[in-house]
Amino acid sequence: MIKLTDVHKSYTKEHETIKGVSFEVREGEIFGLLGPNGAGKTTLMQMISTLMKPTSGKIEIDGLSSDKDLLEIHRKIGFLTNEIKLDPLSTPNNLFNFFAELYDIPKEEMRERRDISFARFGISPFADKRITELSTGMKQKISIAISLIHNPPVIIFDEPTNGLDILTSKQVTDYLLELKEKGHAIILSTHIFSVAEELCDEIAILVDGKIVAQGNVDELIKQAEVDTFEQAFFKIYVENHVE
Ligand SMILES: Nc1ncnc2c1ncn2[C@@H]1O[C@H](COP(=O)(O)OP(=O)(O)OP(=O)(O)O)[C@@H](O)[C@H]1O
Ligand SMILES: [Mg+2]
Repeated sequence: MIKLTDVHKSYTKEHETIKGVSFEVREGEIFGLLGPNGAGKTTLMQMISTLMKPTSGKIEIDGLSSDKDLLEIHRKIGFLTNEIKLDPLSTPNNLFNFFAELYDIPKEEMRERRDISFARFGISPFADKRITELSTGMKQKISIAISLIHNPPVIIFDEPTNGLDILTSKQVTDYLLELKEKGHAIILSTHIFSVAEELCDEIAILVDGKIVAQGNVDELIKQAEVDTFEQAFFKIYVENHVE
């Protein structure tokens, strides 16, 4: 569903931020990107979401090429990132309407989807409040609901549980597991080990723009010859970080 082949990205002439990344995410799979601040996770996810072009290499979504089939790809992906801010003066209801129209979702269907996702995330009582009056967690849940408004087969979530309390975080991780069961292909980044351990079928550890280890939790623990996933991450990081 998502396929990267030797993807490179340089923001400047002097420095390469992504240094040749390849991986594949299939339907019904959750793929996790783990790595320290500045490793290049957001950069990679922005390229997969077509917000930014790679300097070289190939990105395909469901067989479509990210350098030419942009419109078709947009209908297939749901993208969540902390960098995209909700209009502070708008309301959850207005935002949902706006994005539903953008995706040509018929009114009836839009209402049904809105009611289901607002009820599921406890957004309903806040549906007509201004975004600026809402808590971080509520804003994040609204962003998630909106990013999935068109029921995309491919889900790209950059730190979806960032800043959430454990209850809200669980709502989000449970939802992701449900979407995985339904066959969506999901890629997410996180700094929270328990989230990666609970959700991911496959994890890539990204250090300085390169995947330095990849596998499921058990495989990574075995590769690193340690007892816990957290220990595996630290060991792999220390062995691969230069500077
Ligand atoms: N627009 C930009 N222009 C120049 N450099 C950038 C730009 N965006 C990111 N970078 C640099 O690219 C590198 C990777 O950043 P990126 O945001 O992808 O990392 P990340 O893994 O998402 O980190 P974090 O865990 O902090 O979110 C960093 O060194 C960052 O400073
Ligand atoms: Mg980031």
